[in-house]
Amino acid sequence: MRRLALATSLLLVSAACSDAGPAATSAPTATATTATTTTAIPATTAAEPTTTGPDSTGPPEPAGAQSLGDPYFPDLGNGGYDVIHYDIEITVDPESAALDAVTTITAVADETLATFNLDFVGLEVSSLMVDGSDAEYVRQGPELRISPDGGIVAGEEFTVTVAYSGRPQLINLISAGVQFGWLQTPEGIYVVAEPDGARTWFPSNDHPTDKATFTFRITVPKPLTAAANGALVETIDNGDSQTFVWDLDSRMATFLATLVIGEYERFESEGPEGILIRDYLPTSFNGKMPAAFEVTAEAMVFLAEWFGPFPFDRYGHIVVYELGGALENQTLSLMGSRALFDEIVVHELAHQWWGDSVTPASWQDIWLSEGFATFAEFLWTEHLRGEDAMNDQIEGLHGALQSIGHFAISDPRESQLFGPAVYWRGGMVLHALRAQVGDEVLKEIFHTYFEIYADGNVTTREFIDLAEEISGQDLTELFDAWLFAVALPDLPDG
Ligand code: ARG
Ligand code: ZN
Repeated sequence: MRRLALATSLLLVSAACSDAGPAATSAPTATATTATTTTAIPATTAAEPTTTGPDSTGPPEPAGAQSLGDPYFPDLGNGGYDVIHYDIEITVDPESAALDAVTTITAVADETLATFNLDFVGLEVSSLMVDGSDAEYVRQGPELRISPDGGIVAGEEFTVTVAYSGRPQLINLISAGVQFGWLQTPEGIYVVAEPDGARTWFPSNDHPTDKATFTFRITVPKPLTAAANGALVETIDNGDSQTFVWDLDSRMATFLATLVIGEYERFESEGPEGILIRDYLPTSFNGKMPAAFEVTAEAMVFLAEWFGPFPFDRYGHIVVYELGGALENQTLSLMGSRALFDEIVVHELAHQWWGDSVTPASWQDIWLSEGFATFAEFLWTEHLRGEDAMNDQIEGLHGALQSIGHFAISDPRESQLFGPAVYWRGGMVLHALRAQVGDEVLKEIFHTYFEIYADGNVTTREFIDLAEEISGQDLTELFDAWLFAVALPDLPDG
């Protein structure tokens, strides 16, 4: 059933191949129909972050935490500071897919720090400076541990400048059985970073709870184009190469940082409320706009009625080859050339509210992102083809879920982070909530939720509390059944 495939194709069939990387050998192994889950989900190994003992002399030096305590990804993120801005300057050699880069991080210390960490995997560091002076650092697995001379005083703003080069490592996405990250195809290079790939191409505080603004300065040989998040503010002609300067002035989680390099043509149109829509098509499309992209403006208006005002001042898609799915990169969604369906356009658009602006506080809360985006697909089906069509769609997905093992989607573990249950059952949570509270109250819940958490992070508990507060109902039973229990509940009548 096409509809079934569509509501999920985004995530599981994505197999980008890299000429040299192991991904080249992995055909799309996991698909919605082959994905199996059982009630026995393997426990994740929550490795305790290593702690360094105090010096042999004197009191221990104040060190920023080496983890933000994410239950699934304990080595993502670091404490002791808050990143304000990333300035990422990269020159890319498209032949080797290697980069030569300087990333400057502006951050504010929230405690006095003798030492602090950044997340950074692979690549070779050639220099590291704090506030313009060489700083001592060591590499410990996926961490860069930095000890600037004299430390950093609580409340101070500081900069870290890291120069580095090499070809980024791929990341393993267990739930899809394939590798992602910095991907090279015959048509170009692009990054699929969710959930833990940002640290493979720029040093960062790589956890969704530390959002920051970004500037990207990407240099590529002519005639290639480089695209990233936000606004293209400048294109500098260097003779044989060009530097594309992109600036994102809304705060963004690191996993949403995008970079795409290839031969592209840009198309602009106007969305509602003066929002700029700019889409990037490979030049091989000869300017033929995918029909699916034509729903963008209408879907923006439609979803804004349900969710609240569109969070950003611009939006659009960039089409990439060999990716079977899509990714909701902030202001510029990545669309696989085999994923050009309007359900997916609506799904990635909905993520701009849910996932990008209102971001789950930990990877465990992923249903707050994928379930909401799937629910937007249900709403879109109803909008286009009526309530019966929507109910058919949901029943179809419910049937498909019945034939695979169940688990509580409040704790999908890393192995099912992007599994079908997170998406479909996640969408059904909101469908069941709609049946219980009605459309008007549900809209009020969404609007208030967006108003409170836009540009920030949220937990499942916070969503539940808000839903109860706005509806004035005790929703314990509903959320227990749909989110916290293993068994798959029956769909609401009607
Ligand atoms: N968040 C994406 C979406 O639903 C799915 C990404 C899964 N793949 C990945 N490499 N993280 O559109
Ligand atoms: Zn999604």
